[in-house]
Amino acid sequence: MFTPYYRPRRLRTNSRIRNLVRETHLTRHDLILPLFVVYGKGKKNPIRSMPGHYQFSIDYLVKEVKEVWKMGIEAIILFGIPEVKDPVGSDATSDDGIIAQALRAIKDAVPEMYVITDVCFCEYTDHGHCGILHNHELDNDATLEILGRQVLVHACNGADMVAPSGMIDGMVGAIREALDGEGFYHIPIMSYAAKYASGFYGPFREAAESAPQFGDRSSYQMDPANGDEAVREVALDVEEGADIIMVKPAMPYLDIVRRVKDEFRLSTAAYQVSGEFAMLKAAAEKGWLDHDRVMLESLTAIKRAGADLILTYFAKEVVDKL
Ligand code: PBG
Repeated sequence: MFTPYYRPRRLRTNSRIRNLVRETHLTRHDLILPLFVVYGKGKKNPIRSMPGHYQFSIDYLVKEVKEVWKMGIEAIILFGIPEVKDPVGSDATSDDGIIAQALRAIKDAVPEMYVITDVCFCEYTDHGHCGILHNHELDNDATLEILGRQVLVHACNGADMVAPSGMIDGMVGAIREALDGEGFYHIPIMSYAAKYASGFYGPFREAAESAPQFGDRSSYQMDPANGDEAVREVALDVEEGADIIMVKPAMPYLDIVRRVKDEFRLSTAAYQVSGEFAMLKAAAEKGWLDHDRVMLESLTAIKRAGADLILTYFAKEVVDKL
């Protein structure tokens, strides 16, 4: 009978040795919590397909930020839902827009919280596309101009970092130029550099009321079938000055996370998107999966694949398991 000489099981014998040889450690410092903000007062509207998540009016948002800060979450990313949408997403470039007001309130109440803003127009336009349209097509360069105005509103109102998510060609360069032009040299850009046209954004579009009114986002977001193209997309954003590069979604694209990390060796973020969260939640609710186990496993796997930062709707729940 063959008796193995090498026995990997020796290092799995008990939890002490497993703890000693573990390669990947998830910590609260890896996490960024997404939050949704709406106009009004006293609002905490549950998002049906994202259990535990809400559209908060600013008063409730501030309460939530205080609470999550106490829990040990030090970074959030904000998504705004305006009252009025129009073809050019005016709320997003207004100094009294929803994000401008939310930033001022958060920075007033919890100044240390690291606040990242999502920079895009899909929540603000009446057609639901990520910028200005021309003959039903996204007008790339006209959108660059309003992206510059949007980031300046965020910067002037206290954003710590901006995160352009529209997959508009040249968005990182245009945003860097706009920020530097006003002296905001210190504000980093986290680019949604390789963002796929994914079905996993479904619940987010309910949360942010941002579904396109016609067509889809395939003319700007990436084809899920492409990997080399992700490397080229990231290279462009790095050249234009991105400080952190993001791959999105996370779980179905862990090969891309790994390739991007290996190729560029930069701070790399992965976004565990709404649909990834929703599917784990739904299966756990049915009793088909062990909630805490798959939550921790999924986040650890994203980190093992190469992510330094993880945007996740599990941030609040996972933080006290760490
Ligand atoms: C666009 C944006 C989207 C998400 C983050 N930023 C939606 C989209 O591209 O349709 C999706 C996040 C998620 O699904 O959790 N502003």
